[in-house]
Amino acid sequence: MMQHLTVVDHPLVQHKLSIMRQKEVSTAGFRRLLREISLLLAYEVTRELELTTMHIETPMCEMEAPTLEGKKLALISILRAGNGLMDGILELIPGARVGFVGLYRDPETLKPVEYYCKVPRELDARMTIVVDPMLATGNSSVAAIDMLKERGAKNMRFLCLLAAPEGVERMREAHPDVPIFTAALDERLDDHGYIVPGLGDAGDRMFGTK
Ligand code: URA
Repeated sequence: MMQHLTVVDHPLVQHKLSIMRQKEVSTAGFRRLLREISLLLAYEVTRELELTTMHIETPMCEMEAPTLEGKKLALISILRAGNGLMDGILELIPGARVGFVGLYRDPETLKPVEYYCKVPRELDARMTIVVDPMLATGNSSVAAIDMLKERGAKNMRFLCLLAAPEGVERMREAHPDVPIFTAALDERLDDHGYIVPGLGDAGDRMFGTK
């Protein structure tokens, strides 16, 4: 059985993440690093994709060559910061099917409410990778995965850049069947739900908003 939390501790991932965390990094720099790191994270999160073989001819001879089996995988971005992480992954897996989930927090109940959901067909037959750079309280990730399971998704992974212990625990309780991949497990959340030491607001940093 796959472990529930995988910290991708590759030296290149760790080095790039340390640069991204620094507050003086420009929007352009942050975006470039996010793209680079997402390629490395995508490599790790897709390790369990099934292979089959196909018959090909090289200039030397015929052979049975490995090729991905089954339906194209589904990448689901949790809006809006998920898009930044998804762009790099799509460079590596250009044939992936793409979906978007939009959630806002109800100011009274503080619960996530769906405002947008458009996902690929036949989720039950695809590996489905949900991307959101920051796993903080875990509320939006849990709600997004609830929505995807209602639409048939089964074989899922959750990919983020940073995770807080609180978010990992919330996911473990709600969705123990969804392995989490992250570049780092940080210390804690602050009183506003930000990850510490973290990198600030991932959406603001990648899109240059404030
Ligand atoms: N979302 C962010 O962008 N940053 C955090 O630290 C937590 C949630």
